[in-house]
Amino acid sequence: MNDKKTILSGIQPSGELTLGSYLGAIKNWVELSSDYDCFYCIVDMHAVTVRQDPALLRKRTLEQLAQYIACGLDPEKNTIFIQSHIPELAQLTWVLMCHTGFGELSRMTQFKDKSAKNSDNINAGLFTYPVLMAADILLYQAHLVPVGGDQKQHVELTRDIALRFNALHGEVFTIPESFIPKIGARIMSLTSPENKMSKSDADPDGCVFLMQKPEEIMRRFKRAVTDSETNVRFDPAKKPGISNLISVYSAVSGNSITETEALFSGKGYGDFKTAVGEAVVELFRPIREETDRLLGDKAYLESAYKKGAEKASGVAGKTLRKIYKKIGFIPL
Ligand code: TRP
Repeated sequence: MNDKKTILSGIQPSGELTLGSYLGAIKNWVELSSDYDCFYCIVDMHAVTVRQDPALLRKRTLEQLAQYIACGLDPEKNTIFIQSHIPELAQLTWVLMCHTGFGELSRMTQFKDKSAKNSDNINAGLFTYPVLMAADILLYQAHLVPVGGDQKQHVELTRDIALRFNALHGEVFTIPESFIPKIGARIMSLTSPENKMSKSDADPDGCVFLMQKPEEIMRRFKRAVTDSETNVRFDPAKKPGISNLISVYSAVSGNSITETEALFSGKGYGDFKTAVGEAVVELFRPIREETDRLLGDKAYLESAYKKGAEKASGVAGKTLRKIYKKIGFIPL
């Protein structure tokens, strides 16, 4: 047995991975993987809370797995798996739903946002989505949950559910904490830098994708919204566009914000945007090539997700048996 703390996180295969997903999540996941016992999943069950094209969902799920690995997440060192492969998750979700208030779920801001955006399909899954996420976290007894700021409320809810359950039935769940990385979580849209870069952004030019061709990446950076000044200075309130580009360049190059400012002091926005674009192109090139290579090796990908499912279900089964016993279900 090891005494490492457990980390769990996941990304929905509801779109292509972006620069924001890489810098905000996956890059940090890779760094965490040596010090923690890490579970990283592809949350296809969350993705179907909004309509998905089945063939595309399948393709994106596999592509996301290949990308996780190409970004440096080693399936030997981490538990990398597909959410729907673990039936215990749906089973635990039911139990947790019976420990979650209707009012609590009604207060979730993401539910309000998403139901406004999907007014023709406000399904029960969209409403109970945070409980499925709580089950993800609690099933694997995660201590830390790396997420973007938009998911913090869901982790808070997870804590409330876990504390409530433990108070009723004894200490069975580890109480998780969210873990919000400093820089990466704040990568903003290139065209509307007040908003987070998101794969579901209405304006595709706001986003840069991991698998995009270099020319297309460069085009988007060159068209990034800036301001009417001329100095490369970090000031998110007054200069959100330029500050975002500084964050990107710093995260990619490993420079501090001040070092990046110094590097481009006296240079025009045009040169700066080109430099940021080129840095991202070079960062993504090997990842894109490795992803393509892995996608050509379906047997390997299949063995990777099978191994992940096997590791995950060991932990999942153990937790679920405990929970079922606590609430009075008769073991079969
Ligand atoms: N809801 C998260 C998002 O959209 C994804 C997610 C699902 C998740 N389950 C999780 C994140 C468990 C962290 C832990 O970003």
